[in-house]
Amino acid sequence: MSRWRSSSQHPGWPQPVGPLRVPAGLVRLRPVRMRDGAHWSRIRLADRSHLEPWEPETGVDWELRHSLAAWPSVCAGLRSEARKGRMLPYVIEVDGEFSGQLTIGNVTHGALRSAWIGYWVASAKTGGGVATAALALGVDHCFGPVMLHRVEATVRPENAASRAVLAKVGFREEGLLRRYLQVDGAWRDHLLVAITVEELDGSATAALVRRGKASWA
Ligand code: ACO
Repeated sequence: MSRWRSSSQHPGWPQPVGPLRVPAGLVRLRPVRMRDGAHWSRIRLADRSHLEPWEPETGVDWELRHSLAAWPSVCAGLRSEARKGRMLPYVIEVDGEFSGQLTIGNVTHGALRSAWIGYWVASAKTGGGVATAALALGVDHCFGPVMLHRVEATVRPENAASRAVLAKVGFREEGLLRRYLQVDGAWRDHLLVAITVEELDGSATAALVRRGKASWA
């Protein structure tokens, strides 16, 4: 039996997920924690031009929003949502180092059994399969321990790298959401993409391994 006992209200949380090996290193998902603040703030401030074109606005200035002092309330908010069973807020680690985040949100059980998924990877770690591995680990976790049936994501049509990541894991396009989110100074169209458990040939991580994109650690 696993040493991570998730509550019946929030199956699958707070277990870590992975690891999976890709060219960038060993990728693993683990819950966010208070002591992530220094890494989170340093990377998010340095990577503003890499991240800002793709992330929803909050009305708070980027520098202020990502200061070290901002992390405790950001982290507490994520963990509170996790305790209520609505979210699984993970850090993406590469070889044990904080390298980004993957968040599973709006977790709904009952007849819907659905959630959305989103992610970012530090620019220093991109191009080596990290996001693809993290997304595949997240999807397998959703369809396994979290017991979901559908996972969806939204992505700007211009975000070629993220669209490639979603396609590699098996997400298919469902439509275009017009002026869906306020991002980078304007209301931006987003593609809605999704995957249901029936569409996976066993598991997303196993499919990456079969295609030579990843290996078991
Ligand atoms: N055009 C087409 N394909 C591209 C481009 C481009 N300009 N740039 C990269 N790619 C491809 C790569 O070739 C690679 O595919 P391949 O393995 O078939 O060659 C793929 O995109 C990237 O795969 P990974 O290496 O797994 O991804 P990476 O770790 O580099 O992370 C990510 C990609 C998450 C998009 C990162 O660049 C990032 O954090 N960007 C900023 C934030 C962001 O866009 N987050 C996603 C928002 S949408 C969402 O969350 C659903």
